[in-house]
Amino acid sequence: MAAALKDKAPTDPAALAKWRADEQAKERARRDKEKTEIGSLWSRRDFLGRLGWGGFGAFATIGLLAAVRSAFPRVLFLPPSKFSAGYPGDYVIGEVSEKFKQDFRTWIVRTKAGFYAIFAKCTHLGCTPRWLKTEQKFKCPCHGSGYYISGLNFEGPAPRPMDRFKISIGDDGQLIVDKSVLYEMQPGVDPNEQHPESILKA
Ligand code: FES
Repeated sequence: MAAALKDKAPTDPAALAKWRADEQAKERARRDKEKTEIGSLWSRRDFLGRLGWGGFGAFATIGLLAAVRSAFPRVLFLPPSKFSAGYPGDYVIGEVSEKFKQDFRTWIVRTKAGFYAIFAKCTHLGCTPRWLKTEQKFKCPCHGSGYYISGLNFEGPAPRPMDRFKISIGDDGQLIVDKSVLYEMQPGVDPNEQHPESILKA
């Protein structure tokens, strides 16, 4: 290469000086170009590296949030609103009491397992269903959703069972319904199984 360049070099001193200056400029330009190419390669690698770590960080954060969320039961705490619902002996096993439906939008149900208080609100669009005693089911008049006595949905567009309020026994022996504690039901699982704490043992 050097010999080839030497062959091309002019013999005239002035022309030789100019030729050398041109060759040196070409060499500098070639080196600058190489540096630029190497620099852009590394910046591409940095970008990909940051992208990878960013994705990993987001994935880890989502996993952590999901773990924290699963540590808490699906219970919503609403403003305090309690009412007395009479004595346990006022209720008959296997019956749905509509006594508190109008004022508190709540059914009190007594079964062999105990008492529970259903929030009388259809989980489709929020209408108030009716209890049909002869058919032993709750029926929503708006779009026809049906629920078993447990509140589990089985027909119509309702996406999940009806929710329940907390029910307990007060100091005076009367049933207390606490509407500030709502047991929110998820789809496809019997309410008695997903929230057994919503049942007050008789
Ligand atoms: S609101 Fe009850 S079925 Fe639509």
